[in-house]
Amino acid sequence: MFNFNHRPRRLRQSETLRTLVRETELNPTKWVYPLFVKNENGREPISSLHGISRLGPDDVLEEIKRAIDLGVSSFALFPKIDDQLKDASGSLSRSPNDIVPQMLKKIKDKFPEAILLTDIALDPYSSYGHDGLVRNQKILNDETIELLIEQALVQAQAGTDFVAPSDMMDGRVGAIRQALDSHGYCDVGVWSYAAKYASCFYGPFRQALDSAPKSGDKKTYQMDPANKREALRELNLDLQEGADVVMVKPAGSYLDIISLFKTHSTVPVAAYQVSGEYAMIWAAHERGWLDGDRALLESLTSIHRAGADIVVTYGALHAAQLLQN
Ligand code: PBG
Repeated sequence: MFNFNHRPRRLRQSETLRTLVRETELNPTKWVYPLFVKNENGREPISSLHGISRLGPDDVLEEIKRAIDLGVSSFALFPKIDDQLKDASGSLSRSPNDIVPQMLKKIKDKFPEAILLTDIALDPYSSYGHDGLVRNQKILNDETIELLIEQALVQAQAGTDFVAPSDMMDGRVGAIRQALDSHGYCDVGVWSYAAKYASCFYGPFRQALDSAPKSGDKKTYQMDPANKREALRELNLDLQEGADVVMVKPAGSYLDIISLFKTHSTVPVAAYQVSGEYAMIWAAHERGWLDGDRALLESLTSIHRAGADIVVTYGALHAAQLLQN
């Protein structure tokens, strides 16, 4: 026998001991569950996203009930808009009759304790499929912000808890914050997609909402995946502009950015495990290449370990169920 001072394995001898010394715990109350909403009732399963469907109003209420029973009480709403209702400026995004404000009212009515996030961006409503206004193949910044403000006010009026600008226009957090305050919505928060990268991992989401850009890509507004220092710049700007929560997106391939945010942010740090990350887990599972349940829990653990206080994940209900068993 050797006489080692240190034997790290000593702390790994039993499940009870490993649980005692575990540094990162999974907790469904820290997860946000995205919901794809549409006007007509009836679930439409999204084949690339295991367990996820587009949901009509009654289905949404049912799904929220299920989630709350599993300890998940926060939700992000994303609308599926029919093609014929889209136009160049995404007008429907600013209408109180749109599915998002309508669902906000229905959900708040039935589940006042639920925390609701609503997306601020034009893409699901825009015939161009871009997050901002398009002119001569350019995405206009300040003109877009005027529209985002209107979208935010409609959602605030309908009872959202957080408007979540995912559009990546410069200056939009501050402009939205001011508009909310000057209309009396000082309690509505801004949940900023602070570092959102121009990522290929959004593929299944864009298919689910039929919201892919019709031409070009999003590289003139979303960040270059190669950049880290620039994420710190975006973080600092959003903090100065009054963001209540700052988010990194995607999560799994951007753990260093999450860790950077954790060090420098004075507000809660969220990370979005996006559609492509989630889809990859189940695609490999279906081929028998790994265990999807374990991969999901491991990926969520890694995102929290990197520094995320909150994780937005399509796996929220599935993982919450796994933790219960
Ligand atoms: C668009 C938006 C996107 C996602 C959330 N909001 C897609 C995009 O930027 O093209 C992606 C989420 C996911 O992939 O799960 N404003």
